[in-house]
Amino acid sequence: MSVERGSQRLTAICSSDALEVGGLGVRFGVVDENDTWPAFVVRHSQGLAAYINRCAHLALELDWDNGLFFDVDQRHLICTTHGALYTADTGECVSGPCNGSGLEALKVVEARGTVYLSDPRYVGFCE
Ligand code: FES
Repeated sequence: MSVERGSQRLTAICSSDALEVGGLGVRFGVVDENDTWPAFVVRHSQGLAAYINRCAHLALELDWDNGLFFDVDQRHLICTTHGALYTADTGECVSGPCNGSGLEALKVVEARGTVYLSDPRYVGFCE
């Protein structure tokens, strides 16, 4: 479901209840003028964060099971393939073979119990 807010188009991703701090993330997809990309949103200790689901090491999705993005301490996001660690709030790489790069962040907002994609570069859709 998409809603307009001013000149901005918001795409509903999930209910706010679906995201617990350090818990499972919600996978969704985004479309730009070139392609379709897998994406995800998680709730961390300071709020929400969403990213393109593509490791900075190799162009592979991070989660080893649907929505499992956090490492065991529930602080960092981890890539299942070779263990690269990213900060949950910025997507910056802090450990592992991510070549000094981070995750591509997406803008999201939370309002009235729903999490929305609010990134003008992309149109979102639920998987
Ligand atoms: S593909 Fe993610 S760490 Fe290698």
